[in-house]
Amino acid sequence: MANDLLKGKRGIIFGALNDMSIAWKVAERVVEEGAIITLSNTPMAVRMGTTDELAAKLNAKLIPADASSVKDLEEVFAQSVEALGGKIDFVLHSIGMSPNVRKKRLYDDIDYDMLNTTLNVSAISFHKMLQVAKKMDAINDYGSVVALSYMAAQRTVYGYNDMADAKALLESIARSFGYIYGVEKNVRINTISQSPTVTTAGAGVKTMVGLLDYSDRMSPLGNADAAECADYCVAMFSDLTRKVTMQNLLHDGGFSSMALSQSMMEQYTKSIAVEEEVEEK
Ligand SMILES: NC(=O)c1ccc[n+]([C@@H]2O[C@H](COP(=O)([O-])OP(=O)(O)OC[C@H]3O[C@@H](n4cnc5c(N)ncnc54)[C@H](O)[C@@H]3O)[C@@H](O)[C@H]2O)c1
Repeated sequence: MANDLLKGKRGIIFGALNDMSIAWKVAERVVEEGAIITLSNTPMAVRMGTTDELAAKLNAKLIPADASSVKDLEEVFAQSVEALGGKIDFVLHSIGMSPNVRKKRLYDDIDYDMLNTTLNVSAISFHKMLQVAKKMDAINDYGSVVALSYMAAQRTVYGYNDMADAKALLESIARSFGYIYGVEKNVRINTISQSPTVTTAGAGVKTMVGLLDYSDRMSPLGNADAAECADYCVAMFSDLTRKVTMQNLLHDGGFSSMALSQSMMEQYTKSIAVEEEVEEK
């Protein structure tokens, strides 16, 4: 349902790879709400993925860029301001990648060069994005910048590996930069901590199927999906949230306040019964 919540606003969406990507859903929703946008992803993702189809559908300029490169980010902001005809009102950082996860290195056996890449791509790119935008004065007063995070930043999730450290850093950057950008330019910076979601990056997480089911059973409202995350992003990019900044906003169906749900207890009891049956045989 469109309400023109972003009418007249200009945005940049980083990280739409295919129609499962959270950023893909966000791009569709913000345009539905009246925004005009540019899209960005790595040159490789642009070649291999289907971002060009989204760009055509949304009439958005697609700007290939490695978000860990300051030079590339300067290009994204310069080209976006030019293509959209003015300063930017909102930015989505929907970027995550861990070579340690890809190579199935366990957390107590990670490769440190790979850890550097994880942190650089998944977290420090957010700092670079903000620093570039601020130096270029590319974001409007009360502009809104959102990065997507995950609860493993605060609490240990087995299998999430060095991405947990990247998310902790990402959330810290939102607070540290949020103060400076807020005081100087009234720009607000937040992270949205999203439920586990079925996407290409999500599929890389060890035990994703079990994690999705566990998290869904534990959440009174169930897991939040990508489309619901897009709705939340619209709210955060709109003028209805002008005084929200430096927050890690939990978009998780209530998961983070739970310790044990009835559904989870029932499932656990069932699995104990199966184990006992196997032992008796
Ligand atoms: N899927 C989940 O369960 C889940 C849950 C919480 C948070 N998140 C976060 O949401 C964000 C989006 O992930 P997704 O689940 O939509 O998966 P996705 O794989 O669709 O998106 C990840 C994107 O990061 C891009 N990327 C990787 N390296 C890059 C680089 N150097 N420069 C620019 N872009 C780069 C990829 O091309 C891809 O488009 C990530 O930050 C992820 O950690 C995902």
